Parts: sequence; C-alpha cells; structure tokens
Amino acid sequence: MTGTLEGRVALVTGGRGGAGRAVCRRFVDEGAHVYAAGLSDGEAIGSEPAAGEFLRFDVTSEDEVTAGIAAIEAAQGRLDIVVNAAGLEIEKTVEDTTLEEWNHIFAINVTGTFLTSKHSLPLLRQSAHASIVNFGSYDGFIADPKLAAYCATKGAVHALTRAMACDHGPEGIRVNAICPGYIDTPMLDQFYPDGVDSAVARTEAERIHPLDTIGTPTDMANLVHWLVSDEARYATGQLWVLDGGLSAQIQQMRF
Ligand SMILES: NC(=O)c1ccc[n+]([C@@H]2O[C@H](COP(=O)([O-])OP(=O)(O)OC[C@H]3O[C@@H](n4cnc5c(N)ncnc54)[C@H](O)[C@@H]3O)[C@@H](O)[C@H]2O)c1
Repeated sequence: MTGTLEGRVALVTGGRGGAGRAVCRRFVDEGAHVYAAGLSDGEAIGSEPAAGEFLRFDVTSEDEVTAGIAAIEAAQGRLDIVVNAAGLEIEKTVEDTTLEEWNHIFAINVTGTFLTSKHSLPLLRQSAHASIVNFGSYDGFIADPKLAAYCATKGAVHALTRAMACDHGPEGIRVNAICPGYIDTPMLDQFYPDGVDSAVARTEAERIHPLDTIGTPTDMANLVHWLVSDEARYATGQLWVLDGGLSAQIQQMRF
C-alpha cells in the first residue's frame, strides 16, 4: 500500500458488512482515518478483522446521520470521502412485496444514501479531495428474478449518483457509483436458493460469469479506492460496473 489517502478522513456506511469492511481495511492501509458506520460493531464476517473506528448510526434516521457526521466534525474537523455501502436485499416479486418491505428497502438503499450524502456535503465542500462513492448494482441495469424492490432501489441510486455529480462537480466534489455483480458477502449467501447446497449454488454462480468466478470484497475495495484517489480526479457521474463480465453477455449455454 502506498499511503494514497494519508491525512484524509473517510466515512463508510455499512462499514462492518462484507464489502464495506474491505473498503475500510483498504482505506486504513492507505493512511486514512476511517469511520465505519453501521448498526452493530459486532457483525461477524468470516475471519476478516474489522478496520476503522466504529460509529453507530442508522442511515434511515436523519437525527442519527447528522449526529454521526457532527461527531466526525468534532473529532477531525474534516471529511474527504463518503462511501454509501449500507444496503439490504429483499428477494420477492412486486406482488409478494408488502408496502412495509418496499418502504424499508428504499429507506436503507436510497434514503440512506441521500441522507448521508446530504449531511456530508458541508464538510466535503471544504476538502480538496472530496469524493462520494455509492453502491449501485448490475441489478440497477438488468434484473435478477424475484428482486423487484431491490432492482428499483439500485436504479434510483444510479440516477441519484448522476444528479449529485452534476450538482456538486462545480464545487469540486466527485460522485460515482460502483455497480457490482455477484460479490462473495453475506448478502450473496442469502441470495442462493433455499435447500440448495451452498457449494453447488456457488459453482453454478461462478459458471455464469465469463471470468468463471464471483467477485470478492477486495475487488470492490480496489475500485472504490481508485475512485476516491487523486488518480480518478477526472472521473465523476459514472456507474462503474464490476461483475466479471456477467452483464456483457447474452444468456447462453456454456460447455
Ligand atoms: N453482495 C453482492 O453480491 C452485491 C452485489 C451488488 C451490490 N451490492 C451492494 O453492495 C453493498 C454492500 O453489500 P454487502 O454485500 O457488503 O452486504 P452486507 O449485508 O454484508 O452488508 C450490508 C451492511 O449494511 C448495513 N446496514 C443495513 N441496514 C442499515 C442501516 N439502516 N443503517 C446502517 N447500516 C445498515 C448492515 O448492517 C451491513 O453491515 C449494498 O449496497 C449492496 O446492495 C452487493
């Protein structure tokens, strides 16, 4: 690691989850002071140790988000990087999704991204390296079965990313989204069908990718790191798909 984020302060929501945890680890290794925001410090994700200072806030609560960002301002006096990685997946068709479930997933995936970004902007505006990275999904472009509300939230995150990039680019704030395919995290484990052996499901999932493998949290962290780094100074308003080629292909039999 090369200290590319030395002296910078980063906030990562969902920072104890599968992808967020890897982002926090990479940012810490690059020299940033990292706040990992989430619901619980005690999430167990494999053997990977947590990185960064835990900050408890629920992204759906405006009071908790503003209190969390105020705590960062009080402690650090600055904020340079925001990664909106908190997320939820609900596996249902529209018909099977209750209004309560619909509102809940939008509250986390969309409103959480909105609130965290909105209340970070006053601090980001003061940074010479300001960058927001949202977590979209390839499901924001094309649909997996029985993920109707999830797909809708990710489409909204993509649109919000472009809108924020246009509004805040002139203030020196870059806004991008990463759009993963299958990442090996607890969220993906939950996506495999009930009753199917997880090793079999995983092999099947790997086989539908041109690269014959699913992504890792580290793959996500590598792209997020590049997006927030000075090397990406000219990159904003884009939806960066990272899916092992999954969305590049038409469905076909593979022998
Ligand atoms: N895993 C995949 O295959 C995949 C694919 C595409 C996109 N994504 C997206 O990547 C992001 C990270 O997902 P992941 O795979 O690491 O999932 P994960 O379930 O491991 O992590 C999600 C994190 O969000 C946190 N969270 C949920 N509700 C919250 C709330 N109200 N306030 C604060 N934190 C909350 C959880 O506690 C958890 O730490 C999500 O936005 C997800 O939609 C994941």
